[in-house]
Amino acid sequence: MRVGVLTGGGDCPGLNAVLRAITRKAEREYGDEVFGFLDGWRGVMENDYEVLTVEGMRGTLPRGGTILGTSRVTPYMSSDGIDQAKATITELGIDALIVIGGEGTLSCGLQIHNDGVVPVVGVPKTIDNDIGGTELTFGFDTAVDIATEAIDRLHTTAESHDRVMVVEVMGRHVGHIALWAGIAGGATMTLIPEEPFDIQAVAEAVSRRHKHGKYSSIIVVAEGAQPIPGTIELADYSVDQFGHQRLGGIGSVVAAELEARTGYETRVTVLGHVQRGGTPSAFDRVLCTWFGIEAIDAVHEKNFGSMVALQSGEVVQMPLADAVRELKTVNPRLHEVAKAFFP
Ligand code: F6P
Repeated sequence: MRVGVLTGGGDCPGLNAVLRAITRKAEREYGDEVFGFLDGWRGVMENDYEVLTVEGMRGTLPRGGTILGTSRVTPYMSSDGIDQAKATITELGIDALIVIGGEGTLSCGLQIHNDGVVPVVGVPKTIDNDIGGTELTFGFDTAVDIATEAIDRLHTTAESHDRVMVVEVMGRHVGHIALWAGIAGGATMTLIPEEPFDIQAVAEAVSRRHKHGKYSSIIVVAEGAQPIPGTIELADYSVDQFGHQRLGGIGSVVAAELEARTGYETRVTVLGHVQRGGTPSAFDRVLCTWFGIEAIDAVHEKNFGSMVALQSGEVVQMPLADAVRELKTVNPRLHEVAKAFFP
């Protein structure tokens, strides 16, 4: 078969490990040709690709980012995008397309599949871990490791200066990174989008700690966390090419409010894209390898319109439509675990 593959949306560690696994089994077991489209859907629209081979993928397992490049454009954003994509698929004789991406990229893949442009198999990628149907997306474990190490380091400077340190982490509109890194990093409190926060209650909690002689605090804030309506005035936001809200900045708002309400010296650290950089964790390398192998198997089993997913510790195939139907929010029970440590 002639199998196309693309990486779309925000990059994250592990993308190359997925490409390496797909290429390995495609070439060695199935005798496929693998076409790596460049910069996500742009490469499909502009017939811009490179042929992936086992030899060419050597050394890519630990390499962060994506050797194919990525973007947030889709064929549905322009009047002739679909025609361009169809022309590429026909010209190259592509039998199936493996789409590696987050909610935006996978939703486009489902639409492309349903519109009969090319049969699609999805692979769930995002540090946010917000895709339904899969216990974990790849990139998440690495992002939590990065955020946890940062929080560990911030404890030492907070204790040295008796400061309140606010740490803003990524995660878009869910709090998985914040909650896991907050628990792992021993945060004083963790604020997540799933539960609007009461800034006065946070200030009082920090004050209680101080009164008991704990003069430093770490407050982890998910970039999508929101105050209870009417308690803090927030600036408007812009959107990216997928129409996603451009987040970032809530950490500075929380830090300013805490310093004003408690009088304690407060600083803010925004981890930003550091959480998406560098080499994938060992866990993500294994998950990516398994995802890639299962994805090329799904192609040869002709289970199209599907997505590989981690369920009960196994990588399985599930309907892509079920995966992208709704955002996966944090487990309320894990949120309660974190709250057991709030002051
Ligand atoms: O979806 C992954 C993610 O890192 C989000 O956590 C974050 O809000 C967004 O991408 C940032 O997008 P960009 O890379 O376009 O700044």
